[in-house]
Amino acid sequence: MNDVKTFCDTYYVDRKQTDSEKWDGLEEKFGQGNLLPLWVADMDFQIPEKAREALMERVEHGVFGYSKPSDTYFDAFINWQQKRHGIELKEEWVRFTTGVVNSFNFIIQAFSQEGDAVLVLPPVYYPFFSAVEKNNRVLIHSELRNDGGAFTMDFADIEQKIIAHNIKILLHCSPHNPVGRVWTRAELTTLFDICQKHGVLIISDEIHQDFIREGQEFVSALRLDEKYQEMLFVLTSASKSFNLAGLLHSHVIIPDEEKRRRFDAHLEKVANNAQSTMGMIATEACYRYGEEWFDSLQQVIEHNYQIIRREAARLLPKAVVSDKQGTYLAWLDLSSYVTEEKMTEMMQERAQIAIDYGSWFSSNFGQFIRINLATKPENIELAMTRLADALTN
Ligand SMILES: Cc1ncc(COP(=O)(O)O)c(C=O)c1O
Repeated sequence: MNDVKTFCDTYYVDRKQTDSEKWDGLEEKFGQGNLLPLWVADMDFQIPEKAREALMERVEHGVFGYSKPSDTYFDAFINWQQKRHGIELKEEWVRFTTGVVNSFNFIIQAFSQEGDAVLVLPPVYYPFFSAVEKNNRVLIHSELRNDGGAFTMDFADIEQKIIAHNIKILLHCSPHNPVGRVWTRAELTTLFDICQKHGVLIISDEIHQDFIREGQEFVSALRLDEKYQEMLFVLTSASKSFNLAGLLHSHVIIPDEEKRRRFDAHLEKVANNAQSTMGMIATEACYRYGEEWFDSLQQVIEHNYQIIRREAARLLPKAVVSDKQGTYLAWLDLSSYVTEEKMTEMMQERAQIAIDYGSWFSSNFGQFIRINLATKPENIELAMTRLADALTN
C-alpha cells in the first residue's frame, strides 16, 4: 500500500477545469456535470518526470516544425517491445499515425472495399463498430462467450461467420477491452489458423499490451508463428501505458513488405506527415526512462481492482466481477441488481458515477458496466460505496 500511496501522492492530479474530456466533458456526454468520472480510458496521473523534462526541453527550444523519428527513438521503442514482450521488431516494419483509432480506420480503407464484411468480437471497444460502419463496410459480430464472467472466443461461430459473410478483415483487441482477457497463445493460434485458412487479414489492436496482471503472459501477434505475418497489422502506442493520448502518436507494425507499400500509399492520400513531434518526444522518454513509473502504476491498478473485488463481494455479492487479466478496466455484471432500463437512473441519478455502459460495447450487455481503475483508490472506494447504496437501497 505504501508504494500505492507514494505513487498517488506524487502523480495524482485534480484534472477539473483542464479541458479534460473525462472530467470536464461530463455534462456533454452524460447530461450531468456532478458525476464521479470513471469512464473514458485515460488516467488521472502525471507522466514520468523524465518525459515531462523532455517535453519541456523542446518547449524551451521553441521550434515545432516537421520532425522525423530519430535512431534513438527506434532504439527505445524496439527495446521496450523486446524487453517487456519478447517481440523482435524490425525498424522497417514500423509506421507512425496520430492514433490507434485512426490506424484501424486507415487499414480498413486501404485493405477492403465498400460493402466488404469486417468481423469484430463484442463486447468490444466501440470505435471498432464505427470504423467499420462509417467506412461503409458491413459489420459482423461474433460475440464472446460469457461463462459466469469468464470470456472466451466462440471459434465455431467465428469460422461460420467468416464463411457466411466472406469476411475480409478481423478487427481484434488483444488484450481485450472491456472484458480484460489476455488471450493465450493457444487461443490466438486457433483464431489465426481460422483466419489464414479463409484469407482474412488481422488487425491486432495491442494498445493495452503493457497492462498485464502478474501471472499472465501477453502474447503479441508478432510472437506467434511467422507464417501469420503476411496477414498481420499490429497497432501499439504508449498512449494508454503512459497517459499520452492527447499527444496523438502511435505505431502501425506491418511485417509484410507488399502490405507496407499499400499502407504507405494510402497514408499519403489521407494523412500526409502523420507524426506528432511532442508525441514522439514523450513516447521515446517514457519507453527509455518510464519503466519504474509504470511498474508502480501497475500496483495502483491492482490495488484498485482488489477494492472492486472486495467491495463487490461485501456489498454486492451477486455482482460478477470479471477476472481482469489485462487492461486498467474492471468489467462488472450487475444483472442481479438492475434492469437495463434502470441503468442510467441507477448510475447517474442515484450513484452519481460516470462509467462506460455495457450497452456501448454490445447490445447484449446492457446490465454491465466498465470502471476505469487508473485513478486514486479513494475514488474507487467512493464509487463502490455509492454503487452499492444505489443498487441495494
Ligand atoms: C482497444 C483500444 N484501441 C484504441 C484506443 C484509442 O487509441 P487512440 O487514442 O490512439 O486512438 C483505445 C482507448 O481506450 C482502446 O481501448
